Amino acid sequence: MDLISLYPTWYEPMLGSGWVVALIATFHVLASHTSVGAAMLFAYLSHKAYREDRDDLLDFIKKYGLFLMVFTYVAGSITGPGIWYSTTVASPNGIGALIHSFVWKWATEWVFFVIEVVGVYMIVYLVGKVDKRTHMKISIIFGVASFATLLIIVGILSFMMLPGKEVWFEEGGYLNGFYGTNTFIQTGMRIAFMFTMTAVVGGIVVAGIKDPAFKKEMARKLGWLGIISTLVGAALFQLYLTAVPEQALLVMENRLPDYFGPSIMIVLAGTLGYFIVTMLQPKIIVESFAGAMAVIILVAGLWPEETARESMRKPYVAGQYVYSNQVIGRDVPGMDIKSQLPTIEKVGILKAHPFTPEHLQTVNAGNKIQAGEYIAMVYCSNCHSPSETGIRPLHRYFPDGVTEERMQKYVKGVLTTGNIAYMPKMPMLDSEVEALSAYLVMNNNGGQKAITAAIKQEVENRDRALVEKNAMDKVAVLELSQEVK
Ligand code: HEC
Repeated sequence: MDLISLYPTWYEPMLGSGWVVALIATFHVLASHTSVGAAMLFAYLSHKAYREDRDDLLDFIKKYGLFLMVFTYVAGSITGPGIWYSTTVASPNGIGALIHSFVWKWATEWVFFVIEVVGVYMIVYLVGKVDKRTHMKISIIFGVASFATLLIIVGILSFMMLPGKEVWFEEGGYLNGFYGTNTFIQTGMRIAFMFTMTAVVGGIVVAGIKDPAFKKEMARKLGWLGIISTLVGAALFQLYLTAVPEQALLVMENRLPDYFGPSIMIVLAGTLGYFIVTMLQPKIIVESFAGAMAVIILVAGLWPEETARESMRKPYVAGQYVYSNQVIGRDVPGMDIKSQLPTIEKVGILKAHPFTPEHLQTVNAGNKIQAGEYIAMVYCSNCHSPSETGIRPLHRYFPDGVTEERMQKYVKGVLTTGNIAYMPKMPMLDSEVEALSAYLVMNNNGGQKAITAAIKQEVENRDRALVEKNAMDKVAVLELSQEVK
């Protein structure tokens, strides 16, 4: 049997699975980064409270901790499993690749996360109930556990971009996959931006401080934290770009939306401006202002960051061997993994895919558009939305009125050969090239309406043919029974 490990495709109309994942991930990054940053800030403040015997700092920790509990811990714990569910259906082989290499790392991360969750409760509810020294110790354990979760997850995230060391492909071994230059620079960058988020979200807590002198002190502290971390983070981002695969830079340079660069600069400048203003004029920090700033950072900073991270990995979703469309495109001897491309080249994608319905396994005049749609779903929809909106809509790339002949040339000449660095190699039989091209042309020139109509027609024709065949079979059976009699 020439079947490969592919699963049914998950596609959200108008949006695409990639954007669903990115939406959940954006919220998760805000929640998780804010809490890890805050954990370290708490360790510092708690230490200071103990050294200088100050109750107001502990009170601040308690308020910020409460805010974290109701906001980031709830949002983080909802979006965390959300990432698992959505990525498992969007990228089953991608997640499979991560689990095969890192399942124990993830278990370890979970243990630290449990310490973190228990820790935040202890930090909030034990203020004033235990002495300051004990509180400081708890805060430090909380900070270390939070940091451990970050370190482990970043190791796994950076594997998605690039396995830590090149020898991993030959020899496997999770430490080879885990640690590399990319991991360390990314860890530094995330720590920096984490403090930026902690400082911004902390503004909401500072807004509620009554005592003007203390408000000023905390606004100053968070302001400095925010300014330094934003600048360090921006510098580390530049360094990070030197440690990513070449094709990632190609996508960065040519293929990110035009608004990406300016939008990042505006967010950076806006963030710095915000901190400077709040340091100079702590009085103007009110909850609504600080809250709005957190939302702006979320929308204008994290969304482009998460979509860029996704774009830069192209054509792969994990480890430079699992394509975004879930096909395994490279041998990895270290993990006993074989490229699936030869099988697809041999039997075609329709026959290689275990979930292709029987009536679509061979392209014919009666199922061309359905087969084309199926191939587009399997091969393209993870990266391109076939509808009007969503992630990189397909119709944007072709001129109006494009002909089938030209389309076939493109599909065969470019897509099946893997001639473009940021797209996977997608082998197809000639009949599959024709089906996909017919579908793409219809998608381009007539849109979803035309496709729905064409598919309806195909299904009706098939049904009619079946009815006719049944009728003929009946006649044949009748005749046969007459003969027997
Ligand atoms: C791994 C993700 C991925 C997959 C799978 C993928 N593409 Fe692309 N494709 C991209 C990226 C990234 C670009 C760059 C354009 C952009 O970002 O707007 C692109 C660009 C294109 C372009 C623009 C022309 C060009 O040469 O740059 C066309 C046409 C296209 N894709 C068609 C398809 C079709 C049809 C399929 C399915 C058979 C497909 N792609 C599968 C990621 C992908």
